[in-house]
Amino acid sequence: MTDNTANIEFEDKIKRILLLPSPLHKFENEVYAKLNLEVFIKRDDLIHKEISGNKWRKLKYNLIEAKKNEINEIITFGGAYSNHIYATAAVGKYFGFETIAIIRGDELNENSSETLKFASKCGMKLKFISRTEYRNIRIDKTPIQTNLNSLVIPEGGTTVFSLEGVGEMVEEINGQLNQSPDYIICPVGTAGTIAGIIANTHSSTKVIGICVLKKGQYLETEIENLLNQSKKETNLNYEIFWDFHHGGYAKKSPELTTFVSNFNSNQEFEIEPIYSGKLFYAFEQLVNQNYFKPNTKIVLIHTGGLRY
Ligand SMILES: Cc1ncc(COP(=O)(O)O)c(C=O)c1O
Repeated sequence: MTDNTANIEFEDKIKRILLLPSPLHKFENEVYAKLNLEVFIKRDDLIHKEISGNKWRKLKYNLIEAKKNEINEIITFGGAYSNHIYATAAVGKYFGFETIAIIRGDELNENSSETLKFASKCGMKLKFISRTEYRNIRIDKTPIQTNLNSLVIPEGGTTVFSLEGVGEMVEEINGQLNQSPDYIICPVGTAGTIAGIIANTHSSTKVIGICVLKKGQYLETEIENLLNQSKKETNLNYEIFWDFHHGGYAKKSPELTTFVSNFNSNQEFEIEPIYSGKLFYAFEQLVNQNYFKPNTKIVLIHTGGLRY
């Protein structure tokens, strides 16, 4: 098969399987109307029920890179509840890649969580290693010894190729609004999504990140590294809020729990407490503090994370 035929087949599959461009929904309430804020939600959570949200954006150009190099196997890493493991397993199933995941916790097995059960059902091979071994791999960035012709994608799915996929989301937004928005806001975990937005916006758009981890400030360096590697001109107009973590990654404060539960009872779409809950909570606080200039367009990225 020629490169070109393979690319056409790949793009064709994307069109058949995924909902792209993802919808941009107007999000209205009295407070926004009073402050003259036009608020939109980029519904990346609707891209696919198993390859949800920013996972597709971050994986796409990694897959293209693999295809270009005739690599058919992806090796990646994560915890037993990782959205990235879930999505990578699904990508393997739909797009014909062999997938292997190194999972943190040698006490676990393929029945330990819904994520691992699903991944295993998709055909992903799971290798369980101790938490110490796992930490060493992450800290030392020790290359995984493999004779296989594989693409190794780190935990969370962020590589320099991820920035291009996120850039497609920014392009969609600009097209859907017929202009670039004044603000784009997203959650920050490994920082691949925000780096992709920063790399693909001009300074007329302020990019805002809500860090979901405690003491996540080290991510500033990750962002810089990703932007340097991508060699794209950088939009310096960005700000990350570090204090909306509600206790740390996957932790919940009582305020967050109440907020998410009220939100889900009153809105037509759902959020979860790990990423989108913290994003929407922070957004409400910032609106109440008059952070946003009036007569502006604001886009919140719903990065998925819900399992339907
Ligand atoms: C649903 C969801 N939203 C947001 C994020 C954070 O994105 P990033 O890791 O690119 O900062 C993640 C993790 O990657 C995620 O799974």
